[in-house]
Amino acid sequence: MERLKVVLGARSYPISIGFDIIQEDNIFWPLKPGNLAMLVTNKTLANLLKDRVLFHLRKSGIKIDQIILSDGEQYKTLNEMELILSALLEKQHGRDTTLIALGGGVIGDLAGFAASIYQRGVRFIQIPTTLLSQVDAAVGGKTGVNHLLGKNMIGSFWQPSSVIIDIHFLKSLPYNELISGMAEVIKYAIILDQQFFCWLEDNLKEILLLDHQAMSYCIKKCCALKSQLISLDEREKNLRALLNLGHTYGHAIEVHAGYGNWLHGEAVSVGIVMAARTSELLGYLKKSDFRRILTLLKRIGLPVKGPKNMSAASYIPYMMRDKKVISGEIRLVLPVSIGKAKIYNNVDKNIILSAIKYSQ
Ligand code: GLY
Repeated sequence: MERLKVVLGARSYPISIGFDIIQEDNIFWPLKPGNLAMLVTNKTLANLLKDRVLFHLRKSGIKIDQIILSDGEQYKTLNEMELILSALLEKQHGRDTTLIALGGGVIGDLAGFAASIYQRGVRFIQIPTTLLSQVDAAVGGKTGVNHLLGKNMIGSFWQPSSVIIDIHFLKSLPYNELISGMAEVIKYAIILDQQFFCWLEDNLKEILLLDHQAMSYCIKKCCALKSQLISLDEREKNLRALLNLGHTYGHAIEVHAGYGNWLHGEAVSVGIVMAARTSELLGYLKKSDFRRILTLLKRIGLPVKGPKNMSAASYIPYMMRDKKVISGEIRLVLPVSIGKAKIYNNVDKNIILSAIKYSQ
C-alpha cells in the first residue's frame, strides 16, 4: 500500500492506494473501535462490495449503520441527500458520527454534502469504487448535487478525513465506466504532465486490461497531481480550475441529454475535444497536439462527438451557467500544449461555436 497526503493544514488527510487494502489493519483511520458511522452506498454496490466492506468495518470494531440509495447520476439530488439526513436522524447519529461513502462520484458527492451540513458538519471517509472517483471525484472535497438547470450547482467544499482507494474494486466495474474514468486520467496528462501523456499513449492496453502495475501507477499519478493542486488552491480561486478542462462543454451535454444518459467521462471526453479544437482555432494549440489528443481518446473508445440532436447554439446557455462564469463571461480552460493549460476569458463565441460544430 502507498500513502499520499493532501496537505491542508489541520484538514490534511491521507490517500491510501493499493490492492485489497480494505482488509488491512487501521485502514479506516481515523475511526477507532467503538466509533459510530453510517455507510452510504447504492443498490448496485449493495450486491457487489457492501458486505465485504461492512465485514471489515465490524471487524475493526466500528458500530456501523447503512443507507442504500438508487444508482445513477439522475439520483444526485437534494431528495436523495435528504434520505441520508433522515437515516442519520432516525438512527440517532450525533456530531461524532462519520459518513463513509462507498461508491462512485455520485455517492461520494451526496455523502460528502450530507456530511458537510448534518449538525453543521461531521467527518466523512471516501471509499471510491469507480476509476473516475478514484482518480478525481473522491479527492479534493468537492461535494454537492445537481439541479435540473445545471450540474453540481448546489454544494460545498468539505474535505474527507481519509480516502481509501482499493484498486481491486475496479474488477467489478463495467467496461463503459472504466473508459469513462479514463477521460479524467487524460485530462490530468493534458493540463499538467506531458510525460504522463506519453506514458498513457504507450501503456493504454495494459491499463484497460487492469494490469496491476500500470493501473497502480496511473491512479497514483493522478492522485498526486490532484493533491498538489488542491494543496495550492483548495477553493478553486485559480489553479484548481484547470481540472475543469472539457467540463464546461461536457456539463452542457450531460444536462441537455438528461442526467445519466451520458456518463460524466463520456461527456468530458467530447468536451476535451471541443476545448482542444477551440484552442487550435485560436492558434494556441498545435494541430499535431490536437490530433494526438483526439487519437488517444478514440483509442480508448471514448466518444469524440456530442449528441446528434444538440445544436451548437444550444450549448451556450448551459455554458453560461458554468461555475467559472464571472460577470456573465464564459471562462474556458484551454490546452496550450500537451502538459499545459490556461484559463481564458472573453473567447469569441463564434470560435466556440465553430469548435462545437467540429465535434457534432
Ligand atoms: N473534479 C474537479 C475538481 O475536483 O476540482
